[in-house]
Amino acid sequence: MSTVAIPVLTVDGPSGAGKGTVSRLIASRLGWHLLDSGALYRAVGYAACMSGVDMSNVEVVTRIATMTRIVFHDPGAGGEIRVMVNGADVTDEIRTEACSATASAIAAMPSVREALLDKQHSFRSPPGLVADGRDMGTVIFPDAAYKVFLTASTKERGRRRYKQLKEKGVMVRLSDLTREIEARDARDASRKVAPLRPARDALQIDTTGRSVENVVEKIVALVCSG
Ligand code: DC
Repeated sequence: MSTVAIPVLTVDGPSGAGKGTVSRLIASRLGWHLLDSGALYRAVGYAACMSGVDMSNVEVVTRIATMTRIVFHDPGAGGEIRVMVNGADVTDEIRTEACSATASAIAAMPSVREALLDKQHSFRSPPGLVADGRDMGTVIFPDAAYKVFLTASTKERGRRRYKQLKEKGVMVRLSDLTREIEARDARDASRKVAPLRPARDALQIDTTGRSVENVVEKIVALVCSG
């Protein structure tokens, strides 16, 4: 089967717009595979930090992106996917705010993005793929049959992230978090390569004040309507 015949739903948008939760639930509902592309950038950032390299050295960081073994373990039933880096489970470690900032910085390096291309394409397998990220609909799967771009107000995105971290026992100030989210969005949207922006043919959904179920239903209806 040519991979082009395998349906893809791309879910792009800024941090905290609800992409992760929504993508996981939709993949589980449809029985499709899930690509959390942000976790790939986080994993590379984490591996680079752990090896103590100069994070501004593009050549070295690119080599790490090429050599690092990143494996996702899907527990099924919509459960949280475990992220393994060179055999170690780093699912929690890559979700810290420090790792978010590192991921955003290395994601601006064109050669790092290039190094992760084949890996991302390899997730496209039957019966279908839900791809979550920033450039899924614009760069990685431009031929995707279904594309959505989720947004939400900065205030709401900050609140959601705050709640997530609090549930994990991580204490942060909401105002600091909101500022960090704004800075990360600005960097992701202004970089030269694959900037955060909606594909021309993406359905834009503002998730502010909407329940997760409501957003999931809307997207599942889009896919099911063919
Ligand atoms: O989705 P996330 O917050 O886990 O992503 C972490 C960082 O990785 C984010 O700041 C931007 C970057 N990223 C990217 O540049 N392209 C993607 N397709 C996914 C994430």
